[in-house]
Amino acid sequence: AALWLLLLFSAHLLLRRASAIDRGQFPPPTSFLFGTSTSAYQIEGGYLEGKKGLSNWDVYTHKQGTIEDGSNGDIAADHYHRYMEDIELMHSLGVNSYRFSIAWTRILPRGRFGHVNPDGVAFYNAIINALLHKGIQPFVTIFHYDIPHELEERYGGWLSPEIQKDFGYFAEVCFKMFGDRVKFWVTMNQPNLLAKFAYMNGWFPPGHCSKPYGNCAFGNSSIEPYIVGHNMILSHANAVSIYRNNYQETQGGYIGIAVAARWFLDPIILGDYPAEMRKILGPTLPEFTLKQKKKLHATKLDFIGLNHYSTWYLKDCIFSSCEMDPMDGDARALSLAERDGVPIGKQTGAPFFYDVPHGMEKVVMYYKQRYNNTPTYITENGYAQASNSSMTAKDFTGDTERIDYISGYLTYLVSAMRKGADVRGYFVWSILDDFEWTSGYKDRFGLYHVDFKTQKRTPKLSAEWFREFLKGSLVSR
Ligand code: NOJ
Repeated sequence: AALWLLLLFSAHLLLRRASAIDRGQFPPPTSFLFGTSTSAYQIEGGYLEGKKGLSNWDVYTHKQGTIEDGSNGDIAADHYHRYMEDIELMHSLGVNSYRFSIAWTRILPRGRFGHVNPDGVAFYNAIINALLHKGIQPFVTIFHYDIPHELEERYGGWLSPEIQKDFGYFAEVCFKMFGDRVKFWVTMNQPNLLAKFAYMNGWFPPGHCSKPYGNCAFGNSSIEPYIVGHNMILSHANAVSIYRNNYQETQGGYIGIAVAARWFLDPIILGDYPAEMRKILGPTLPEFTLKQKKKLHATKLDFIGLNHYSTWYLKDCIFSSCEMDPMDGDARALSLAERDGVPIGKQTGAPFFYDVPHGMEKVVMYYKQRYNNTPTYITENGYAQASNSSMTAKDFTGDTERIDYISGYLTYLVSAMRKGADVRGYFVWSILDDFEWTSGYKDRFGLYHVDFKTQKRTPKLSAEWFREFLKGSLVSR
């Protein structure tokens, strides 16, 4: 009888596993995560330390004229040496989660063509363990814009399908090394903006351009952004299926992606590019083979990560008459009507970022309806203060605009939740002032001010505000 019971129980477990995988979804827990967000290149520095390989950003920022203030991420906020202090800052705020990314080149200095670097693994182990020790859930982005330079040199990085193998390999190393403790994985960050900034308007490495932008230093082609997008979607699917097949059941975590537009979510969740894209781009847009569609279908997300900052009005001249329609600002990346975009709301300290709190509710409700209320984390939302080199910490610490911005967006997020949107977390970008890509150190997003000469961290009023806010919001601190 005992044997029968054992057999029955094993069969039951097997069936449960199969049906969970068939559904392709393991919804994450409903306890709400409040945190702050960063990415490796933007805060770590230590670009030659710990046997790290060179990334595309290390190389690109060293070229003249690529970054507005001539800076780079060689030292950034020196988080590589100060991570304990920074984790303590987060702990003092009372957050229960922290979203950060893993520098590909610390783990695999040469991609899959070299070894796994023990120093890199040790660095992220130290961060993960310190976070868990403080009761802070690591929420880890596998890829946030920095790839090993070697992959760029060998086969053109994201332009080649080869990258799918490298990405899968890197993701698997991350699951293997850290998945016993990391329960939230974001495969990649805002791939649509990477395709746009790196292959449409030439701001990000490798600095390629596409019509109608032109004026690029390196290359000019109309199809590159879409080839890159296609490779990113398939790389994402590759990482998800590796996790589902070999790690999820035993490690018990969740996997999603952080996006800012439909270009990527439609194929990942609904199985193909948005109809508007297909109509406008015609043969420029790659097609998914049947096999790839099946793979996409089988690798549904556990959650959507949504990065949301701003909203514009755009002309929708595609299917309907040219009426003004509100739309997630970042969706501009796929719109040919971009030049007709009209800013609304209050200008923040950074160009293209406008304070439009009700846009948060609009975009969350839109995703809810289009993607069947997939559990959603706001993986980034934040406010930038403009700066110049003569300003000091005290010019930034009275940041009431940031408090207005965050509290406004949270108010509309709650409104979406009251209307049934399945939102499970909210992350402020960012805990610290950091390297804001092509703007260098000019745009300051931190709750803490960083003096980049001394690396001193000073809390802004918004840090105090967030701490007080969290005291009332997180019951189990
Ligand atoms: C989106 C990106 O993920 C992040 O790297 C960037 O710093 C913020 N938005 C602010 O622009």
